[in-house]
Amino acid sequence: MTHADLIARYDGRVPRYTSYPTAPHFSAEIGAAHYQRWLAALPPASPLSLYLHVPFCDRLCLYCGCHTSVARHERPKRIYAEALAREIGLLADILGQRARVSQIHWGGGTPTALPDDCLTTLMALLRTRFDVAADAEIAIEIDPVALSPDKLATLGRMGINRASLGVQDFDEAVQAAIGRPQSFAQTQDAAQGLRALGVTSLNLDLIYGLPLQTEASVARTARLALALSPDRVAVFGYAHVPWMKKHQALIPEATLPDSTARLHQETAIRQVLEQEGGLLPIGLDHYARPEDEMAQALRAGALQRGFQGYMVDAAPVLLGLGASAIGALPGGYVQTQPRIPAYEEAVFNGRLPIVRGFALQPDDRLRRAVIERIMCDLAVDLPAVAASFGADPAPLLADAQPLSGFAADGLVEWNGRSLRVTEPGRLFVRNVAALFDRYLTRDASQPQPRHARAV
Ligand SMILES: C[S@@+](CC[C@H](N)C(=O)[O-])C[C@H]1O[C@@H](n2cnc3c(N)ncnc32)[C@H](O)[C@@H]1O
Ligand code: SF4
Repeated sequence: MTHADLIARYDGRVPRYTSYPTAPHFSAEIGAAHYQRWLAALPPASPLSLYLHVPFCDRLCLYCGCHTSVARHERPKRIYAEALAREIGLLADILGQRARVSQIHWGGGTPTALPDDCLTTLMALLRTRFDVAADAEIAIEIDPVALSPDKLATLGRMGINRASLGVQDFDEAVQAAIGRPQSFAQTQDAAQGLRALGVTSLNLDLIYGLPLQTEASVARTARLALALSPDRVAVFGYAHVPWMKKHQALIPEATLPDSTARLHQETAIRQVLEQEGGLLPIGLDHYARPEDEMAQALRAGALQRGFQGYMVDAAPVLLGLGASAIGALPGGYVQTQPRIPAYEEAVFNGRLPIVRGFALQPDDRLRRAVIERIMCDLAVDLPAVAASFGADPAPLLADAQPLSGFAADGLVEWNGRSLRVTEPGRLFVRNVAALFDRYLTRDASQPQPRHARAV
């Protein structure tokens, strides 16, 4: 079967499975009261991971699918930082002790868009109200263009030890088409500045499937990215969802590469990163140096998947702070209010700003484990996972029936109990995972959440 045939058959719209069930299935029936109960029930010694969402940027890139907006004035950012401080206090009060924190992730938007003193004050507050481990991972997402020497010094004061730089593409024409000018020198300065601060893990984000990109141009970008000696590279397919992100409509659909071109671009980037850079592919969209702990976790079967994508050693509990942030607790998922004024109003009035969530049932936990193994290892032994949950494998095996078709198309090896995604099948791993998603409506007549295309 040719690539074009495979794409025609499998290029449906499927989730990226950063959670299971996925966020469109969260419901307003789960709110602050559930969160409060789930927080209070946490075992005292359970380490926490904190995600802080900062929905501000200094510029708005046309392709952006993140929850953010441009804020040129300081006042709204200061009010938001104050709201984050209140939310930190609310959570710490409910936990009733200085809970241990092993990971802190500042995401966005562009967290560095907050004023310097807000960032250092918030970090100091986190260290006061929580027992932040001396070796905690403290990560931040950075737009290299907005990283001034002062901001770098602030990141040093915050104790940042991991950073992710948005690159997307180094080609000037592509950058102009997506409204994101960014010279190689700016990105290099940011990378070198972060290394000088002691950042031990540096990730770069690239995107394929953007206007004007070609196989040759994305290969050039991948080579330039390698010149910055990243520990990890994330390679995302451009998700064009203008019905959700209105500004994406400024990228005319006719200028976008089709699925076949996208597949070739992904392959071109992969070849450069693997063959010229010696990076190892991780799951659907990551690459890491062989000695990086993400590559080690993959080899040990211990790679995990969560809202920030692939993860290593994730704490069993993730608390999401800030507008639109998602938390994952043993009891289930919660999501905060995405609208900034309503989020601020809630926390300033002492309320947990939760607007929806999902209470996990035993079958959800089982399927979540199956989907996580597929997304991470590209392989799963269905009866073995069922046995680890004391569950009957029969429903999973029934859902697996379409795998014979996937196997006939060369996308998986399937022996009736365990599956392994083949190299050509790697880009279709979400389609394989989706077979075990009980909430994904396969009946086309039903209303469905819209996702970006699979390839
Ligand atoms: C929060 S942003 C990164 C940090 C920073 N704001 C920046 O732009 O450099 C996270 C990453 O999401 C990816 N991203 C954003 N919109 C996307 C889209 N529509 N499709 C695919 N990837 C996207 C980009 O690679 C981006 O670097
Ligand atoms: S890509 Fe980054 S800088 Fe650009 S709008 Fe999105 S979050 Fe902001």
